[in-house]
Amino acid sequence: MTPLLEIEDLVCRYPGRRGGFFRHARPIHAINGVSLSVGEGEVVALVGESGCGKSTLARAMLGLLKPAAGAIRLDGTPLAAMTRRELARRILPVFQDPYSSLNPSKTVESIVGLPLRLNRVPAEERRRIVRAMLMRVGLSERHLARRPHQLSGGQRQRVAIARALIMEPKLVVCDEPTSSLDVSVQAQILNLLMQLRRELRLSYVLISHNLAVVERLADRVAIMYFGRIVEEGPAAAVFARPRHPYTQALRSAALSPDPDQPLPSAGLGGEVPDPAAPPSGCAFHPRCPHAMDRCRVETPDLREVNGIAVACHL
Ligand SMILES: Nc1ncnc2c1ncn2[C@@H]1O[C@H](COP(=O)(O)OP(=O)(O)OP(=O)(O)O)[C@@H](O)[C@H]1O
Ligand code: SF4
Ligand SMILES: [Mg+2]
Repeated sequence: MTPLLEIEDLVCRYPGRRGGFFRHARPIHAINGVSLSVGEGEVVALVGESGCGKSTLARAMLGLLKPAAGAIRLDGTPLAAMTRRELARRILPVFQDPYSSLNPSKTVESIVGLPLRLNRVPAEERRRIVRAMLMRVGLSERHLARRPHQLSGGQRQRVAIARALIMEPKLVVCDEPTSSLDVSVQAQILNLLMQLRRELRLSYVLISHNLAVVERLADRVAIMYFGRIVEEGPAAAVFARPRHPYTQALRSAALSPDPDQPLPSAGLGGEVPDPAAPPSGCAFHPRCPHAMDRCRVETPDLREVNGIAVACHL
């Protein structure tokens, strides 16, 4: 069966900054050869420290960023061959901060109905669909005429979800969908996302630094380090027995007292490498407790054993 979304050997770079010692800008290597697929109805989580490339990968999936190499296919069709409008109907985002992603001067009705208007759905039908979708995400008629600043954080994220789902996409890319919300509201929004997944047969790419959330919601997880996937497999199996030294470090750091803190580098020491000057060999070698000579020169490939893929020489 063709997966819904297929990413193959993706490479994404940002132009670097010129200046100082450097006469030529050194590009930032944000994604260094990622392959990943998302099946129909599947929840795939992306996990990793700040700066490892999660949002860049999300932007590439949404067609908001042109990759330097590799391919992304939706239902077998390359994103590059789709029009913006077609793409914007089929893969939709829910971002971290609903406040900055919602137009502050528009009403909820107009925000949620905009994708319908752009697709020339007649006004009467638009009103009906918007009302039904608001109910679905736990809002009501009362909220139609409000503007984003007249809503709570959780309500704003519900509006963002309604807008994402209004064109009945198959895939929703959620980039830290709850990290700007109060803890009590986070669970409600996550429950809503999962309920909608069942009702509408959605697939999600879920980016989250909260391993407890990922463990609970994701079918599969991809652990990212420095623009690469270092471990990937069924979430339950990966978390029950992490194979890669980086996943092991994340796991033990996540068992520390405050699970709501961003992924700490506790137990890891050192820092994430400079993306303008990638280390040789395995990018994790400067921080890896098991690093060998080979790790400094040879980049490990992602190899699959019993359904779990790991990139490590060990
Ligand atoms: N617009 C940009 N221009 C230049 N470099 C960028 C840009 N956006 C991201 N980067 C760099 O690309 C790398 C990956 O960034 P990205 O935002 O994808 O990380 P992330 O995993 O989403 O991090 P976080 O958890 O903090 O959101 C980082 O080194 C970042 O500094
Ligand atoms: S390849 Fe070497 S440095 Fe990289 S994670 Fe494995 S043991 Fe550590
Ligand atoms: Mg990000």
